[in-house]
Amino acid sequence: MKEKIIALFKERFGEEPVMYASSGRINLIGEHTDYNGGFVFPGAIDKCIMAGIKENGTDKVRVYSADLDSYTEFGLNEEDKPNEQWACYVFGVCREIIKRGGTVKGFDAVFAGNVPLGAGLSSSAALESCFAFALNDMFNDNKIDKFELAKIGQSTEHNYCGVNCGIMDQFASVFGKKDHLMRLDCRSLEHQYYPFDAKGYKLVLIDSRVKHELVDSPYNKRRESCERVAATLGVETLRDATMEMLEANRDKISDEDYKRAVYVIGEKQRVLDVCDALERGDFETVGKCMYETHNGLSKDYEVSCVELDFLNDIARECDVTGSRIMGGGFGGCTINLVKDDLYDKFIATVCEKFNAEYGHEPKVYDVIISDGARRL
Ligand code: GLA
Repeated sequence: MKEKIIALFKERFGEEPVMYASSGRINLIGEHTDYNGGFVFPGAIDKCIMAGIKENGTDKVRVYSADLDSYTEFGLNEEDKPNEQWACYVFGVCREIIKRGGTVKGFDAVFAGNVPLGAGLSSSAALESCFAFALNDMFNDNKIDKFELAKIGQSTEHNYCGVNCGIMDQFASVFGKKDHLMRLDCRSLEHQYYPFDAKGYKLVLIDSRVKHELVDSPYNKRRESCERVAATLGVETLRDATMEMLEANRDKISDEDYKRAVYVIGEKQRVLDVCDALERGDFETVGKCMYETHNGLSKDYEVSCVELDFLNDIARECDVTGSRIMGGGFGGCTINLVKDDLYDKFIATVCEKFNAEYGHEPKVYDVIISDGARRL
């Protein structure tokens, strides 16, 4: 991919670019908790967005998306927002840096990636983090700290892409570290790296290939439900809510919002339980929590779909230790914790049964935990 980008850059802009990359992410547990001030447990993966970039001495940005074979140019002022949706991520990052008092000058860029799009692996966060990291390195002497880089990506989603996401994806993409997961407290941004060394187990993603698109999806509605319940309970976020508080206010909360909150409050505890279990090397408990999360996401939070529930059922039938929807939901992948000796059988079974039911095989990605944003 690197050589291809350099070649395309030279062909288009006649020069040698500086190369940057940032990664997609997985999340072991803690879903839809980030915007509720709770905990998440992500890690960056070996699939990334890579960009070749070079200052061009003008006040224009010229970008080519190699995968989409799409080229655009835009200025750096608010009214210069490009029409192409993919370019809004790059534009948003530029604008958010400028809004924070940082510097962005005109540049040329070519980018490509191997993070599957719409699979719940945060290809958009990888794109934002790649450009945020690069523009910080290129124009700001790396003076913007990594937390702010993650927030620049998140604000890009909010202000230029229409998704009111939490901080997890951008954080994971910027802070990712090879062979480590991170437990992040999304309220304080305090985080710890956990070496992830699941001897005897594999983590594997099964992609339903149902495309999830968080823009215009009910994702923002879920967040609104949570905020309504928090306001009713008189807390800033559901991080501070308990089941007792929820029950005491049951009559003031709609049935739908109630279910959403039940899930979030349960999930908050599950992340902590998984951390304890990991420290004991107790993968059975990790897996049990993953199934509980799936159940909650499917029945109470209602962000699953028939294909994802089907994948989860097959995982159970195959005695997979843990399995659940990963990411925002509405399609994309399940993440599965599988014993080494059951792995081949599980993959064969899940591909065969899914194909028989839906007429196409799911995609299978082995998880390799890798570094986040970087200059190559
Ligand atoms: C998407 C969002 C994240 C997070 C997850 C669900 O990936 O971008 O902020 O809310 O969904 O956990």
